[in-house]
Amino acid sequence: MGQPTNRVFSGVQPTGNLHLGNYLGAIRKFVTLQDSHECIYCVVDLHAVTADLVQKDLKSQTREIAAAFIASGIDPEKHIVFNQSQVREHSELAWLFNCVARMGWLRRMTQFKEKAGKNSEEASVGLFTYPNLMAADILLYRATHVPVGDDQKQHLELTRDIATKFNNDFKERIAEFGHGEEYFPITEPIIDGPATRVMSLRDGSRKMSKSEPSDMSRINLTDSADDIAKKIRKARTDSEPLPESVEDLKGRAEAENLVGIYAALADESPGSVVRQFAGKQFGEFKPALAELAVEKLSPINQEMKRLLDDPAAMDKILANGADRAREIASVTMREVREIFGFLGD
Ligand code: TYM
Repeated sequence: MGQPTNRVFSGVQPTGNLHLGNYLGAIRKFVTLQDSHECIYCVVDLHAVTADLVQKDLKSQTREIAAAFIASGIDPEKHIVFNQSQVREHSELAWLFNCVARMGWLRRMTQFKEKAGKNSEEASVGLFTYPNLMAADILLYRATHVPVGDDQKQHLELTRDIATKFNNDFKERIAEFGHGEEYFPITEPIIDGPATRVMSLRDGSRKMSKSEPSDMSRINLTDSADDIAKKIRKARTDSEPLPESVEDLKGRAEAENLVGIYAALADESPGSVVRQFAGKQFGEFKPALAELAVEKLSPINQEMKRLLDDPAAMDKILANGADRAREIASVTMREVREIFGFLGD
């Protein structure tokens, strides 16, 4: 197998409450990239057990993420949709990357600090080495592009560091086995558009998140039209009208967030949204945003429900995706084992 030149990989954790941030920051981009790239989309269930060991219902949470992918427009026949734990090679490569990555690199990861909180001694070792598993996910398929939200930027830099160190340390063997200059690509993140960091509806300084206790802080992909409208109506804002230009949104985090959400949903720039609503109060902007959000999200919500009504069919899609993922992953692992110099197949 040669180096792929346009392969996309990305993953979403099955930890419940899939929200508008996940959709606008990631899943919607997954859909667009299907036309130009060979795409592999993964429900990262091994990552889901790093924070809370005992998950309430991992199987149904896994199906829910896969259903969200498909309901949003991902084609699991043309591209690959699967769950990580079905392809054992992810764990194997992650172990080897535990030996490539340096302690100092992982100590710098801000997500670990955020997730572990004050009591980092009590965090699992898996939470600490989480970014190595993420690098394994991507590099197992030698993916060239990874669409993600802004919060994953540092993890993707680590992935590039791991690929670079592996390529340098094993330079001679990589050449000896005929893999050219670089074995692993230096993956490009795709972090763009107006919604790379969707903020909480209750607090413009906090990211919209699956784990935030208040459900009013986020729009879930499973929310009804009424819930979506209510959450937008109650979203926190200031009392000023919308300004004439995007620059004037600076320092108004909540207003900036709602404009960004509108722009992303409408496929417009924040500038054009601001021009349409310049001088208008939130009392006018919010119903327009609610209508747009319902129009875009309701069909996804309904299709997710339809798909989840047949769990056996979802499981079949994931098993089929895993078989196809494994075909690629097993070749990489055979080559990586050869490069490391382990005895046996
Ligand atoms: P996860 O499950 O937390 O989030 C899935 C995707 O949603 C994006 N995202 C957001 N984007 C905009 N605004 C927000 N408020 C917001 N919240 C989340 C995330 O950036 C992500 O793209 N570590 C990853 C999962 C992962 C992965 C991978 C991603 C594992 N292996 C390999 C890419 C490639 C994570 O926890 O995502």
